[in-house]
Amino acid sequence: MGLQTPAAAVPEPPKLCGLCPRLVAFRDANRQMEPTWFNGAVPSFGEESARLLIVGLAPGLKGANRTGRPFTGDYAGELLYGTLLEFGLASGRYEARTDDGLALIDCMITNAVRCVPPENKPTPAEIATCCAYLKARIAALPNLVAILALGRIAHDSTLAALGCRKAHFPFGHGTRHTLPTGVALFDSFHCSRYNTNTRKLTPEMFRAVFAAIKDMLSACGPALKAPAGRGRGLRRARA
Ligand code: URA
Repeated sequence: MGLQTPAAAVPEPPKLCGLCPRLVAFRDANRQMEPTWFNGAVPSFGEESARLLIVGLAPGLKGANRTGRPFTGDYAGELLYGTLLEFGLASGRYEARTDDGLALIDCMITNAVRCVPPENKPTPAEIATCCAYLKARIAALPNLVAILALGRIAHDSTLAALGCRKAHFPFGHGTRHTLPTGVALFDSFHCSRYNTNTRKLTPEMFRAVFAAIKDMLSACGPALKAPAGRGRGLRRARA
């Protein structure tokens, strides 16, 4: 059976999303081995009024797929949540548990692919299928002004979700693109264990990306706490 597309443009897939047969089979096998784990499509985490959307790759097997919150329990989460706390984009403490009380401020975290893929490698077809959820996720954030893509797959998926041509917006760590919708797309290397161990991405490099994002958000004015209403166009970046 081939991959299907979601029937409706909803921003979050059902926990037992059945669109990608290989991911369903992997999830079922994982549930057999670890019945207490989340083992489902991991929902986005954060504020519906967010001005910043962070797009990761896909849940880690023993991290987000276990806990049910993006980057939670993943090695990558240590750096991501630590940096968000440092830049005032999160409050509380990150303790790698969904009940740690951590809250995001003016941002939301999602993944290009919502279900854990074998060997952490989604296929192009799975990325394309799940892109419908990313598109709906982006469309459902009325105050969105910036997107941070963690890695090339997140970058390419974001461009696909927004109908932008990849050739016009090449991925580059530290690059800021202004997309035709007016949203700013910031790129970073993914904050994975591999990238940090090899020092392809250092904590300082990651902080520099967040400093640029914070500058842009500050230039746009204060955070909007209440959602500005569905169906409104994307608020454009001033800078
Ligand atoms: N965990 C996630 O949720 N996403 C990633 O991209 C990596 C780890």
